[in-house]
Amino acid sequence: MESHKVVIAVFTGTGNTLLMARALADELDKRGRDVSLAPMERPEKFILPKGAALGLATPLACFSTYPTAWCFLDSLPEGKGREAFFLATMGGASGGMDGPIRRVLQDKGYKPVGSLTVVMPSNYANKTLPVEKNRQRIEKSETIVRKYAGDLCAGNTTWASGGFLSPLFARLARGRRSLRLFYKFFPLAVDTAKCIGCGICHEICPEKNITLINGRSSIGKSCQSCQRCVAFCPSEAISVPGKPAERYRSVSIKDIRALLG
Ligand SMILES: Cc1cc2nc3c(=O)[nH]c(=O)nc-3n(C[C@H](O)[C@H](O)[C@H](O)COP(=O)(O)O)c2cc1C
Repeated sequence: MESHKVVIAVFTGTGNTLLMARALADELDKRGRDVSLAPMERPEKFILPKGAALGLATPLACFSTYPTAWCFLDSLPEGKGREAFFLATMGGASGGMDGPIRRVLQDKGYKPVGSLTVVMPSNYANKTLPVEKNRQRIEKSETIVRKYAGDLCAGNTTWASGGFLSPLFARLARGRRSLRLFYKFFPLAVDTAKCIGCGICHEICPEKNITLINGRSSIGKSCQSCQRCVAFCPSEAISVPGKPAERYRSVSIKDIRALLG
């Protein structure tokens, strides 16, 4: 990667992708790059300076990624030959979204230089959290991501091609069909007895899909199941009814706010 300036656009539900994006940024910074992070859910505020490289960091969702990330990709300015790289985090089953993402970038005139997917702790339906195993998982992936930064700077990266079903998974996620199906099986609900009406879920929902009604949170119809509200509700009032799970998050609400600006 030749660019000195780098902007990494990040989407994260429960923090895994933000953690890895920060490790990548830190390592690029150590190699003399001028790196900043930007939230994918604020495409209207996104600025990619002339000659800057574009980084994309997203979680896997339904073998693709979230509609927020796809919308961000669609909103990108023309690449004009600028370099682009990709970092994905997943629970363990990739559908190979590198391929469809590379195509969008190429069509926009970016030069794709490298992609990497790392395994992180699962962030939903954890009956119990394997705390030590998760810590080791994160540590291992961080080492891989830091090496990826070095490889990017040295021009030693490739872009994974993606599986043959990846265009289908991408189409289903872009059109929200797969995420809607997921939500059918894992719908979220607010326990109004626990809700303290603090408004944090409303503030951080990337879809602006949570409103306060009579001082209690209420979830609307356009949830993309990123689990951010579940992860950062201070009174653990949001969950999937009938499916008890231990709440997972890998960063603090302060980190999410710092990303969102
Ligand atoms: C709705 C949903 C769908 C997911 N789909 C996949 C998937 O298809 N494959 C996979 O390996 N992990 C999947 N995961 C797990 C996440 O990709 C993984 O935990 C990721 O690191 C979460 O990143 P985040 O904390 O930045 O949101 C899914 C998680 C959720 C909540």
